Amino acid sequence: MISRKFPKIMYGGDYNPEQFPKEIWDEDMRLFQLAGIDIATVNVFSWALNQPDEETYRFEWLDEVMNKLHENGMYACLGTGTAAHPAWMARKYPDILTVTTDGKKRKFGRRHNSCPNSPTFRHYAENLVKRLAERYKGHPALLLWHVNNEIGIRCYCDNCENAFREWLKDRYETLDRLNEAWYTRFWGHTFYDWEDIVLPSALSEGLSGGNSDQTAFQGITLDFYRFNSDSWLACYLLEYNAIKSVIPDAVVTTNFQGNGTYKPLDYFKWAPYLDIVALDIYPENHTPESYMALRYDLMRGLKDGAPFMLMEQTPSVLNWKTVNPTKRPSVMRLRSYQAVARGAESVMFFQLRRSLGAYEKFHGAVIDHAGHEHTRVFRECTELGQELQQLGNHLLDARAKSKVAILFDWDNWWAVELGGGPSAHLKYLDQIQNYYDAFYDNHIQVDFIQVETDLDQYELVVAPLLYMVKPGYAEKLGQYVKNGGTFLTTFYSGIANENDLVTAGGYPGELRRLLGIWVEELDALHPEHKNSLVMKKEFGELRGSYDCGLLCEVVHLEGAESFASFGSDYYEGSPALTRNRFGQGEAWYAATNPSRSFMRQWIKSLCGSKGISSLLEAPHGVEVVQREKADLQFTFVLNHSEQLQKIQIGTHEQKELLSGLSVSGDLELPPKSVMILEGQKEAGLRGSV
Ligand code: GLA
Ligand code: ZN
Repeated sequence: MISRKFPKIMYGGDYNPEQFPKEIWDEDMRLFQLAGIDIATVNVFSWALNQPDEETYRFEWLDEVMNKLHENGMYACLGTGTAAHPAWMARKYPDILTVTTDGKKRKFGRRHNSCPNSPTFRHYAENLVKRLAERYKGHPALLLWHVNNEIGIRCYCDNCENAFREWLKDRYETLDRLNEAWYTRFWGHTFYDWEDIVLPSALSEGLSGGNSDQTAFQGITLDFYRFNSDSWLACYLLEYNAIKSVIPDAVVTTNFQGNGTYKPLDYFKWAPYLDIVALDIYPENHTPESYMALRYDLMRGLKDGAPFMLMEQTPSVLNWKTVNPTKRPSVMRLRSYQAVARGAESVMFFQLRRSLGAYEKFHGAVIDHAGHEHTRVFRECTELGQELQQLGNHLLDARAKSKVAILFDWDNWWAVELGGGPSAHLKYLDQIQNYYDAFYDNHIQVDFIQVETDLDQYELVVAPLLYMVKPGYAEKLGQYVKNGGTFLTTFYSGIANENDLVTAGGYPGELRRLLGIWVEELDALHPEHKNSLVMKKEFGELRGSYDCGLLCEVVHLEGAESFASFGSDYYEGSPALTRNRFGQGEAWYAATNPSRSFMRQWIKSLCGSKGISSLLEAPHGVEVVQREKADLQFTFVLNHSEQLQKIQIGTHEQKELLSGLSVSGDLELPPKSVMILEGQKEAGLRGSV
């Protein structure tokens, strides 16, 4: 387990000393030590500094930084520096510059500005990284590597277009197969020569309108997305292998962006090549906690439950939203523990010292423009730093145990949102979040899984909006349910194959037998319109009628039983919620998008019927997470609310790790506070409000 290399939960963040006079560096070290900081991510945007021209490399400044970190008891997360190319390179080799979807060749500027299929980029990046690896192998400060930065920009240049054709030849071998997969008889698109194929940009297949993702040919665009993700993975691997060729046991990662749900890159496909997954997360003050919880669980799921790094968060403010309020007192600490609770083995910031110029000069930092330690933010950072030092390695590699899995699939996400479907309001992440929230609200832990994951370890598998059914997946689900598993899916599922070609013969296509239903029509509702879901049979706490909307499907039963029906419109009385017994298990189908209160009760009852219960009964606003290590069980209780909250943890004594106190029975949680309860696994933890 690679993250075992961490001596404790690492604490620190991005550090850009090259932006400041050297005299400040010693003061930085003093302040880092004061704050309990032990890791600095350096060299992320220093390509221009390190390679001022074709032949010259200059790493002396970095030597000094690395040495200083070591002398002060700190580690380096060493950036490879390839996220912004030097200006001279762009002038000399314009192929490194990207082309936008509307065909504009960019000039030198900004960052994340290189084309992934530029021979110049690949050549010079690999060269640079080899030199770095040779120079810093064996350096005592070097803990891990940070390749590039927030990778993933899409490029539409000629090099990318040619590379796309090669990628397609590899995938389809013949144009006949490609024409079939892309359904090219539509709008007279038959391709007779590989050279006919162009990238699906705004100049070709892109559809203008409300949804910028929409395209005339979903098959082409899907393949382009896959190709782009693979192109960047190839660039990442070039750097990864350059490092490993010099330092075989190096720990290498890159920081995932978009709060972990970054659409352009299939992070499940990437994760095997990251020695530890690393996440940048930038919620706003009003972002619901379950939004972050989902993303942390997803990061944990990318490598089958392995811990991950919280690589970047702001200690205080952002600078890139329209309005950037400060994080309120205690919130940075609380949200840091939320990440730790869900598997993070580092708490890191962007950034350690605030820049004096350019775009990020007002982005929050541990050391503010004032330059000293007498600020609220610095004090809060120091308190957390001291706590993390006390926790030491105690929580490292503790694992979450879940009986419930939610399927997350990038191809499916892309496909759902590419075409002109029933409603542009139909968003994959919204549905994933809806179902996640139902478990979150009930304090029931879930794992995120991919299509390849073995299902038998779970009691319940949920696949919201399983629009795309990949080859063999329907059989896999069928087998799982036959053997006693419970499967749950929603409207707009089983519609298409991996090329986004519709499965003929009635929705939900390949899932029809498993679900025991046939869906005849899909009725999309405008956001202001609602239908209702009327319970026909009692199920747990569900009774009466609930709001629903977004999509209502006209369903016929083919063996399934209906638990609820629609309350109005021409399909009034037809099934809205069904269950099909299949082998020893059962498969549920929600033919509409129900309200949150319905979801909460439904999932509670469903889990109850499978013997899956809440970790702890806790009031709204309190989050509960559990991890296990050997015979120990850690229960994190986080009060995100503004009120004092009470919980009941039962009669067994638990140790609260942050205060060191022994606790049991009734506990009070001040607003914005956290407790980490340690107990014996077998003793369990049950309580009520
Ligand atoms: C991203 C980048 C950082 C910095 C922060 C600012 O996460 O990786 O370099 O720009 O955003 O929020
Ligand atoms: Zn390109």
